[in-house]
Amino acid sequence: MCGIAGCTGDSAAAEHVIESLKRLEYRGYDSAGITLGGTLLRTVKVSGTVDHLKKTLFSGDHRGTRGIAHTRWATCGEPTAENAHPHLSCDGGISVVHNGIVENFSELKDELSASGHVFLSETDSEVIPHLIEHYYDGDPLRSTALALRRLTGTFAVAAVFARHPEVIVCAAGGSPVVIGLDEKRTFVASDVQALSPYTRRIIRLDDGEIALLTPGAAQVYAAADLQPRRKEIVLLPAETVSSGKGGFEHFMLKEIMEQPVCCGNALKDRLDLSRGMVVFPGLGLSVRELSRVSRIVIAGCGSSIHAGLTGAYCFEDLAGIPVSVEQASEFRYRNPVLEPETLVLALSQSGETADTIAAVREARMKGAWVIAVCNVTESTIAREADSVIPLLAGPELSVAATKSFTSQLIVLYLLALYAGRGRRLPQETVLRLLREAGDIPALVRRVLEQAPLIERLAKRYAWADDLFYIGRGNLYPVALEGALKLKEISYAHAEGYHAAELKHGPMALLDEHVPVIALVDPACEAEKICGNIRECRTRKAPVIVFAADGFPPDGPAVRDVVRVPACSRYLLPVVMAVALQLFAYYFARARGCPVDRPRNLAKSVTVE
Ligand code: M6R
Repeated sequence: MCGIAGCTGDSAAAEHVIESLKRLEYRGYDSAGITLGGTLLRTVKVSGTVDHLKKTLFSGDHRGTRGIAHTRWATCGEPTAENAHPHLSCDGGISVVHNGIVENFSELKDELSASGHVFLSETDSEVIPHLIEHYYDGDPLRSTALALRRLTGTFAVAAVFARHPEVIVCAAGGSPVVIGLDEKRTFVASDVQALSPYTRRIIRLDDGEIALLTPGAAQVYAAADLQPRRKEIVLLPAETVSSGKGGFEHFMLKEIMEQPVCCGNALKDRLDLSRGMVVFPGLGLSVRELSRVSRIVIAGCGSSIHAGLTGAYCFEDLAGIPVSVEQASEFRYRNPVLEPETLVLALSQSGETADTIAAVREARMKGAWVIAVCNVTESTIAREADSVIPLLAGPELSVAATKSFTSQLIVLYLLALYAGRGRRLPQETVLRLLREAGDIPALVRRVLEQAPLIERLAKRYAWADDLFYIGRGNLYPVALEGALKLKEISYAHAEGYHAAELKHGPMALLDEHVPVIALVDPACEAEKICGNIRECRTRKAPVIVFAADGFPPDGPAVRDVVRVPACSRYLLPVVMAVALQLFAYYFARARGCPVDRPRNLAKSVTVE
């Protein structure tokens, strides 16, 4: 789960490759490295971020018209400078960056060691330059292809050779590789965002392809037999990435604050109030076709799965369609039953989550129609699905999912209304629910106005190392999401539970040191969750209530209450999620955590 970048044909290769690498840090940021140069290869590697690499590199010689670089999320071997990429052949004349996993690295390492190769790192990737060296006969393309044929697992690689001073060889085998071209320069990277400052003309390598890059040119071949492939050059839309924090201390806070606009984008052009309809241009499924769907399977990971769990309430309630929500990581390993009328929704902000990609492939192989609900429309999941609903949330750079989560909730709600319209929902009801949906941006804005209150509360509880989040109904998955948000950025242990489940075990952990965050919809099973709150108070647990306006004044005595605006029960998860994001943000900030880049994580999880 790493990012690779490269450039040939520009005397500022180092600057370009480092800039591309910065844009790939969402794939990992625990160590980084670069190889620069033509006939003399110079490699610099550090433990830490790309900024650290940049400082180290630019304090020394960084000349060269060719470079390859890597930002890593450690899988095999600790995030040390030795384990950072690029890795070199024994003679130092071949340098390789790799994204993916070499599953048979142990046996390859034994074989290569027996023939005299010496390894300097604990990584699986280091076998690649040695294998290429083993096969090298003067042809960089053929030796790389022969080496890659020996690997089992996944890879995206870029390799440079001291004996071929302008060439980069790159190949894809289960991990993405894009090539960028302009008149005099050629680039390679793990995604198009990394290339967008330099060129809009790109070629995407398919799995099983290998390419020879020279300044201003790229020749693509089938890796199996080195037969040339004709590839289309795609013209990307003009750059849309906003790279700054816009005056905020962290991307996460900026992205939380952007939500009124993002929610508006998720609704815009999809609400047809004059006809009381939802419209999804490019969906490829009409209301009538959707009404014939017998079951929906929602697959995703992390926050995306929590959005899916929330969406399930809408589909079942509004459209009467049975839904199962699947962890994408488990989906393809348990031979899921998909009838011809099963619709699969693949939820992913990045569109590059390996487990979700695997679920999409499994579902399509079994004949299901797959809709990707994705923020990155250029991503693998968006390209491989039968159709795509874009989240339109704009780039999300902080590791914690915020605006993409609320946009997912909105899209799922609209899709449930779209399906419900063809099944059992009368037009007047759809129209009323659509009008209410139109209020979401304003409701979210009102939650954001409470940031100072939520900040005070978060600071007051920032001592806590263990917390529970509880909810009922469609606030139960929001409790899971609130707990995930808190733990990933603050390193406090937080568990989300259905409120009724606490007494089936976890309540044994409650005492005055374990705060409980209770999510309350006064219009839905309020007396039940009030009972659960009393049970917690009886065990001396401090309770913080997040409730929609109307939280019963005769409810349990709790000191700390955050009131969010009352709204339709289908929209409350959106409003509540925003309040919990703020709580997690201020809690982590009070604990001095690196909010945007929590330890051990990456924005995009590209390994299974
Ligand atoms: O890009 P995806 O939505 O597929 O990512 C899935 C998870 O890795 C992601 O939601 C993760 O759980 C977030 N860091 C949560 O904030």
